[in-house]
Amino acid sequence: MAVAPGRRGPAALAWAALFLTAALAVDRGNFKTCEQSGFCRRQRSLKPGSSPYRALLESLQLGPDSATLQLINEENKVPLLLELWGLRGNMTRIRIDELKPLRPRFRVPDVLVAEPPAEQLAVTGRDEGSVELALGAGGHRLLVTAKPFRLDLLRGRELLCSVNARGLLLFEHLRPRRRPFSDKVSSSVGSLWDKIKSLFHRETPAEPPAAAAEDEEEERQGAAEAGGEGAKAAGAPADGSMQPEAAAPAAEGEAAEEPGAWEETFKTHTDSKPHGPASVGLDFSLPGFEHVYGIPEHAESLRLRTTEAGDPYRLYNLDVFQYELYNPMALYGSVPLLLAHSARRTLGLFWLNAAETWVDIGSNTAGKGGGETPQTDVRWMSESGIIDAFLLLGPTPGAVAAQYASLTGTQALPPLFALGYHQSRWNYNDEEDVAAVERGFDEHDIPCDVIWLDIEHADGKRYFTWDPSKFPQPRAMLQRLAAKKRKMVSIVDPHIKVDSGYRVHNEIRSRGFYVKTKDGSDYEGWCWPGSAGYPDFTDPAMRAWWAGMFAYEQYEGSAENLFTWNDMNEPSVFSGPEVTMQKDAVHHGGWEHRDLHNLYGFYVQMATAQGQVQRSGGRERPFVLSRAFFAGSQRYGAVWTGDNAAEWEHLKISIAMCLSMGLAGLSFCGADVGGFFKNPDAELLVRWYQAGAYQPFFRAHAHLDTVRREPWLFGEENTALIRAAVRQRYALLPFWYTAFYRSHRHGQPVMRPLWMEFPDDVATFAIDDQYMIDRALLVHPVTEQGARGVQVYLPGEGEVWYDVASRQKHHAPQTLYVPVTMSSVPVYQRGGTVVPRQERARRSAECMRGDPFTLYVALSPQGTAEGDLFLDDGRTFDFQTHNRFLHRRFTFASGALTARAADPSGAFDTPAWLERVVILGAGKPAAVVLQPAAGPETRLDFQHDAETSVLTLRKPGVLMADDWSILLR
Ligand code: GLC
Repeated sequence: MAVAPGRRGPAALAWAALFLTAALAVDRGNFKTCEQSGFCRRQRSLKPGSSPYRALLESLQLGPDSATLQLINEENKVPLLLELWGLRGNMTRIRIDELKPLRPRFRVPDVLVAEPPAEQLAVTGRDEGSVELALGAGGHRLLVTAKPFRLDLLRGRELLCSVNARGLLLFEHLRPRRRPFSDKVSSSVGSLWDKIKSLFHRETPAEPPAAAAEDEEEERQGAAEAGGEGAKAAGAPADGSMQPEAAAPAAEGEAAEEPGAWEETFKTHTDSKPHGPASVGLDFSLPGFEHVYGIPEHAESLRLRTTEAGDPYRLYNLDVFQYELYNPMALYGSVPLLLAHSARRTLGLFWLNAAETWVDIGSNTAGKGGGETPQTDVRWMSESGIIDAFLLLGPTPGAVAAQYASLTGTQALPPLFALGYHQSRWNYNDEEDVAAVERGFDEHDIPCDVIWLDIEHADGKRYFTWDPSKFPQPRAMLQRLAAKKRKMVSIVDPHIKVDSGYRVHNEIRSRGFYVKTKDGSDYEGWCWPGSAGYPDFTDPAMRAWWAGMFAYEQYEGSAENLFTWNDMNEPSVFSGPEVTMQKDAVHHGGWEHRDLHNLYGFYVQMATAQGQVQRSGGRERPFVLSRAFFAGSQRYGAVWTGDNAAEWEHLKISIAMCLSMGLAGLSFCGADVGGFFKNPDAELLVRWYQAGAYQPFFRAHAHLDTVRREPWLFGEENTALIRAAVRQRYALLPFWYTAFYRSHRHGQPVMRPLWMEFPDDVATFAIDDQYMIDRALLVHPVTEQGARGVQVYLPGEGEVWYDVASRQKHHAPQTLYVPVTMSSVPVYQRGGTVVPRQERARRSAECMRGDPFTLYVALSPQGTAEGDLFLDDGRTFDFQTHNRFLHRRFTFASGALTARAADPSGAFDTPAWLERVVILGAGKPAAVVLQPAAGPETRLDFQHDAETSVLTLRKPGVLMADDWSILLR
C-alpha cells in the first residue's frame, strides 16, 4: 500500500514504522507453510476418528526382547509391521515400517549411542479385540486394541499415553509411479499399432516395446502392493483378486495421487520426487498434561502453544534470514523431542526421524473454561523414513533427561576455556586488528578466552586457508594468543568453493565425496564463495577425510589453540529451495537428501570434532560450535541461536530458546551477545552481557555491517558494567565446569527451567524469563529497556534463597519485586547448596588454574547444605581415560562443613587451596576450628555480619584435594 505523497501525519509515520519493521523481518514467502508442503497438507487433511488401520492380533509374535504385530490398512490393504519394546530404564519404543516396502525406507543412523537394551515382554491378557503386554520390570502395560488400531500405555490404572487414539496414523506406502491415464491410452494405442505393423511386416520385435514392459512392471508391482505376498502375509485375500484399481483408493491412496505427490514446485524450484509420496504421521494423546516443551529450534516461548489455529511447529533445518519471534517456523536446528510435564509426572516423546517434520499440538483445555481433565494431543508428520518413536516415561523431569541421554548421549565436556568469554565479529579485519582487540581486553582488565575469525579470514572463502594479505602469519598470531593463554576459533563452513585451483575442492571432487544431483553429477549451489559443492558428510569415508583435514600439516597455519566454528550447515544454499539443498539430491547409499536433511549439520559437527580429537592423537577435547543440529549433537560441542538482532525481544527470547535446547539435551547453548543484526545501544549491550554471562555459551558476535562494539567502546561507565558482568562469569567458572561435568555424566541440562527443580509447583510451568543453573543458582536477567525493577518468583515450599549480591535471605515461595539499577543482575543461591568460586580476576580461564577457591555455603532452613566441585586439567580426556580428576563433595550439617571425595576413583594433582568460606544464613559461633585430614586442629579467623547472618571464614588454607572438616562451635 502506497502512502499518498505529501501526507505526513501520524498515520504516515505509523506506515513508515510498519514498513521499517517489515523490512527487517523474515520474508515468510521464502519458506513453506504446511499447506505449501505437499505431505504436510496431505497428512493434515486426514481428520480424526476414521482410522483405517486394524491390528492383526493373531500375527503377534514375542521375540526375546520385542513384540511384533502386523497392522493392515483396511482400505488399501497395505500391511505394516509394528514392533514394540519395553526398554530398560522406563522407556517404550514403537517402530512402524511397511511389512514389505518396495525399497528400504530410511532409518536414522548414528544418533542413538547404542541399540537400547530392552526387557522381556509378556502377554498378560487377551480377548477378541485386544492384547495386553507387560513391558519389563517397570510396571508398565501396553494395551493393543485391534480395531481401529490403538495403543494405550498404562501404569497401574493410570493411562499415560495413547497412540493413534485419534486415528491419525497415516503411512504412505511406497508405490510404483502410475502414469496418467491419457499417457497410458496413447502408449497402448501406439504399442498396439506397432504390433499390428509387425504382424503385417512379419517382423518380430527383438524386445517388448518399452511402454508395454513398463505397464507390465506397473501391474506386477501394483498387484504385489494390493494383494501380493505382503498382503497375503497380512491376511488379505490370497487369490490376488484385488487389483490396484479394484482396491478403492483410500483417503491415503487418493491423497497420495493428488497433484504434487510425484512432483512438487515451490517458487521456482521443482522437487522431482522420484519415489513419490512416502510420508508418515501418528498421533499421541497425553491425558493429564497441559504443558508441553521442547522440539527446538523455534523462536518461541519455552512452553509450546497449541497449533490448531495456524501452522504446526516445523522441524527442518533452515537458514532463516532475520527470523521472527514467537512463531512455529523452522530454524537452523531440529531435535524431535517433546516433553510433557504436570505436577504428577513428566513424559518425553522422541520421534526419531530426520526428514522434514511438522508437529501439531492440540489441547482440550486451551482457551476453554476448564473443568475437563486436561489433555494434550501431539501429532507428528514426517516426509519420509519410518515411524520410530520412544516414549520416555520419567516419571520425574530428571528421569526423562536421563532417559533421553541414555538414547542419544550426553553433553560433551567442553574444554574449560570454552566456558569463558568469546569475542567474535564478522570480521576482525587482519592480524593487527586481532592484536588490538586482544590488547583491549588487557587494557580494560576484562577477561577473554577466545578471539573468533569469520569467513573473511580465509582466502576467498576457501576454508582451511588464510587470506595472504590480511593474515599472512597465522601461526605467529596464534602463538601470540597462546602466550597470553588465549585461543582462537576460525570458521570452516561446509560449502566448498568450486575452483580447480583449490586443493580441498579438487580432493573432494576426485574422491567422489560431494553430494550428487539426482542425475549423478556433483551438486552445486550458491553460497558465500559463489558456486560451491557440498561434501557428503553422511558418508563415513568423507567424514574420515574431513577429520584428517584438521591435522596440523593439512590445515596450514593452524595450531593447538585454534578451534572451529561450523556455520551454514543446515546446509544453507542461497540458490536452493527455502535456502537449502534440493530434496532430490543424492547421498551416500543412494539416500535422498529428503530422508536425512536434518542430519546434515549433525554430521558436519561430528566430523569436525573428530578431526580436532585426531590432530592431538586422541588426547585433547575438541571445541566446535555448530549452527545446525539434530538429536545427539550434544556429543560434539556447542550450538547458538543464529542470526538474532540487537532488540530487547531477542535478548529475552534467548533464555527461552536455550532452555528449550537444554531440555532437548543441548546444554552448551548461547545467543550472539549484543544481537547479530543492527546496532545495540549501550543499555541493551550491557544487559546482554549481564544475561550472557549466565548462559552456557557466552560469545559476543555482530554482523559485518554493524558498528564496532568491543566492550570498551561505550564509555567508562558501561565498560565497567561489562567488566563486572564478565568477571562474574569467570568467578563462577568452577561452578559452570562442575555443572557441565555432571551434565556430561548424567545428562541433566546445565541451564534448566524452574519446573525441573520444582516439578510440582504449577506456578513455575510457564516461566521463561528466569531459570536455574544446575540446582543452585536462580537467575532472572533484566531484559526490559529502562527497567527499574523485576518480579522474581522464588519457588520451593519452606525453602530459602539468598540474593547473591546483597546476601539477603528470602523465604519461598514468593514473588519478589526487586528494584534494579544498571549494575543489577538478579541471581539467587538456593538454601541448601554450596557454590565454588575463584574470585581473582585474571586474563583467561587458563590463567586461573591453581587459583584458590571460595566456597559459598547457603544454609537451608534446617541448617544444611551440599555441593560439589570437579577439577581436572581442563582440556584432555585424561579425566576419562586415566581417572585424572578430582570430584569433591562439600557437606554442611550439624554445624560442620566437611570435604570428601564425591568419586574416590579420581586423583589429580593441583596446588589449588581454599582461601575463604562464606556461610550464608549462619549464626555467630564462639569459635571455628579446622580439622585437616592429617595434622593438628587449628582455629580459624572469622567475621560475622549480624545483619545479614553471613559468616566469613578466613584462610582455611587446606588443599582442594584434601579431606577436612570445619567445625562451628
Ligand atoms: C551466518 C552466521 C553468522 C556469520 C555469517 C558470516 O549468517 O550465522 O554468525 O557471521 O554467516 O559467516
